[in-house]
Amino acid sequence: MNTPLYHALRALSQKHTARFHMPGHKGKDVLPDFGPILPLDFTEVYETGNLYTGEGPIRQAEEQAARFYHAPDCHFLTGGSTQGIHTMLYAAAGAGADVLFDRNCHKSAAHAAAMLDLSPAFVFPKTIEPFGIPGLLCPDDIDRALSQNPSIRAVLVTSPNYYGVRQDIPAIAAVCHAHGAKLLVDAAHGAHFPAVGLPSPIQEGADLATLSAHKTLYALGQSAMLLSSGTIDSDRLREGASLFGTSSPSYAMMVSLDLARDALEQDDSYQKAAEAVHALRLHLAEHTKFRPLTGNDLDPCRLTVSTAGTDWTGDQLADTLYERFGVACEMSDARNMVCIVTPADLDDNLDRLREALDTLSREVQQTALPAPLPPLPVPRPALSVRRALLGNASTLFLDDVQPGMVCARPVTPYPPGVPVLWPGEEITAEHIVFLRNQCYNTIDRISVYQP
Ligand SMILES: Cc1ncc(COP(=O)(O)O)c(C=O)c1O
Repeated sequence: MNTPLYHALRALSQKHTARFHMPGHKGKDVLPDFGPILPLDFTEVYETGNLYTGEGPIRQAEEQAARFYHAPDCHFLTGGSTQGIHTMLYAAAGAGADVLFDRNCHKSAAHAAAMLDLSPAFVFPKTIEPFGIPGLLCPDDIDRALSQNPSIRAVLVTSPNYYGVRQDIPAIAAVCHAHGAKLLVDAAHGAHFPAVGLPSPIQEGADLATLSAHKTLYALGQSAMLLSSGTIDSDRLREGASLFGTSSPSYAMMVSLDLARDALEQDDSYQKAAEAVHALRLHLAEHTKFRPLTGNDLDPCRLTVSTAGTDWTGDQLADTLYERFGVACEMSDARNMVCIVTPADLDDNLDRLREALDTLSREVQQTALPAPLPPLPVPRPALSVRRALLGNASTLFLDDVQPGMVCARPVTPYPPGVPVLWPGEEITAEHIVFLRNQCYNTIDRISVYQP
């Protein structure tokens, strides 16, 4: 095993030191279910290193991760890709900057915009029908947006997105760099890419990328990594990570990052998971009424299955899978359900999913395909994100929201956690209809700005 942090902390835990420091469990077996984890759960003391100063075995583990992702540098994060997105925007754009956002960005981007007082502009991905999901961004749209506003310093795009769609990062990076803007990639869902033969965003030309190791690797919840191409000062990145992160980063999470990366390098099990997803997509397309998302620009381990063309919604399919078959999906929406697949599903999880979908396919009725989703009317900014999100607000039921009111908090169906409206945007009658029709099961209230 090539796990410098795990080895260092395991050796320290075996020294039987009297630990008069945090955490309060002192590495002892006081919570039986956590048995082997507690001895490794240290704090910044002798020989354990310090995340924010980049020393010791933590740094060695970060260097191993950087090597694996073919990135000049890597910083561990214990606040998820949320912390990664905040840190990237702080380091690459800075307070008061103009930033171009993929409209399909996670809500943490809107939170960063408020904290850093960023002025957002947006590019909208094309919709993939009949799935009704966000697809590819057009590099020409990014080019146009950057030409219109030469003061934009950074562009943030999501790739892969929740449904597994990968953006053309080399083309987008070329456009950004031609305009002198940095490209930041939210690759929260793509930490496993090198294990399935795909490049990391840094290899494809991005300046920074954040990966949620807890989403698709074996790492503990919240553990993530920030990859850097070296075009942004490493000290500024650490400063940002500590600004938006806890002052007591979890060593258990950091060890899990070290172990999860090493597990990716041990064998070809992620490749096997990708092959199993490929086989399941073919099976569903041929033998069921459900419609798997397929294509070359997808995460090979993500399974998106649409109910479009049947009399069921994606939410209904996901709920039935759970209630009748004990199969829990990652998320669902009106037309789709999404499963995250890793080698840990290669036991019988995937067989259970396939059998359940085969059974349910016999129960659903085929219908005409739904009409393409009406595009969301492009929102008009009325206030800065900062003033709207950090200012006074009152929460109203959708039926009481009047056109002309200003959105105060991101209006975000969760998952996928992508805001339909950003703070500071004016709410129109079309938005209210859109939310009522498309987000009926997740959003019934909106926070509106109160001057
Ligand atoms: C696309 C995307 N980016 C960022 C995040 C935030 O990641 P984390 O939960 O690791 O903070 C999420 C969370 O679901 C996400 O889906």
